[in-house]
Amino acid sequence: MIRLAILGSGSGSNALNIIEQSKDRKDVQVGLIICNVAGAGILQHAQNNGIPAVQMSNSELNSELALLDLLKEHHIDWIILAGFLRKIGSNICQAFPNKIINIHPALLPKYGGKGMYGHFVHDAVFQNKETQSGITIHYVNEHYDEGNIIAQFTAELAPTDLPKDIESKVRALEMAHFPTVIFETVLK
Ligand code: GRF
Repeated sequence: MIRLAILGSGSGSNALNIIEQSKDRKDVQVGLIICNVAGAGILQHAQNNGIPAVQMSNSELNSELALLDLLKEHHIDWIILAGFLRKIGSNICQAFPNKIINIHPALLPKYGGKGMYGHFVHDAVFQNKETQSGITIHYVNEHYDEGNIIAQFTAELAPTDLPKDIESKVRALEMAHFPTVIFETVLK
C-alpha cells in the first residue's frame, strides 16, 4: 500500500476528491492530512473521513523537522500538495526526491511562480485575454512551480469568460484528472 500525505491550506476540494477516489483502492491510500490554516475545510474533510489530520504552524513548517518526523511516523511514501500555500523546504525535497506532486491551476510555465495562486492566476489569465488555460500536475523541487511536468490538461476559454468562469473550467479539470494522475504516477 502506497501512503499519501496531502498538504493543503484551503477548502480541500481536491483533497476530498483524492480521498474519495482512493477509498476503495487496495494499492494507494491517504494516510495523513497536513494543513497550516486553522479551521480550513481540508481539516474538516479529513475528520469526516477518519483520516489523521494535523494542523502545523508556519514556524513549525519552516523548521521542517516536525514535518519530517510526522511524515515518518505515518509511514508516508508520497506528498501531494493540493492548494498548499507554503514553499516546501530543501530537507523535505531531499527526503522525498521526485515523490512530491503539486497541482497548479494554469498551464505552466505561464502564470507560475511566487504570488501566482488562487484568483491571482485566473485574474492574470483574464487580463491577458488568453484563449486557453488549464492545469499542470508536476513534481516539486526547491523552486516554485519549476519541477518536471507530469501532465497538463487544457480548457478552451471564450472571450466572454470572466475570472470566475475560468476558475470553474480549471476546477472541473482538477476534479476530472488530479486523482487519476496521482495514482498512475505513484504506481509507476
Ligand atoms: C486549486 O485550484 C489548486 O489548483 C491550487 O489551489 C486550489 C486548491 O483548492 N493549487 P482546494 O483547497 O483543493 O479546494
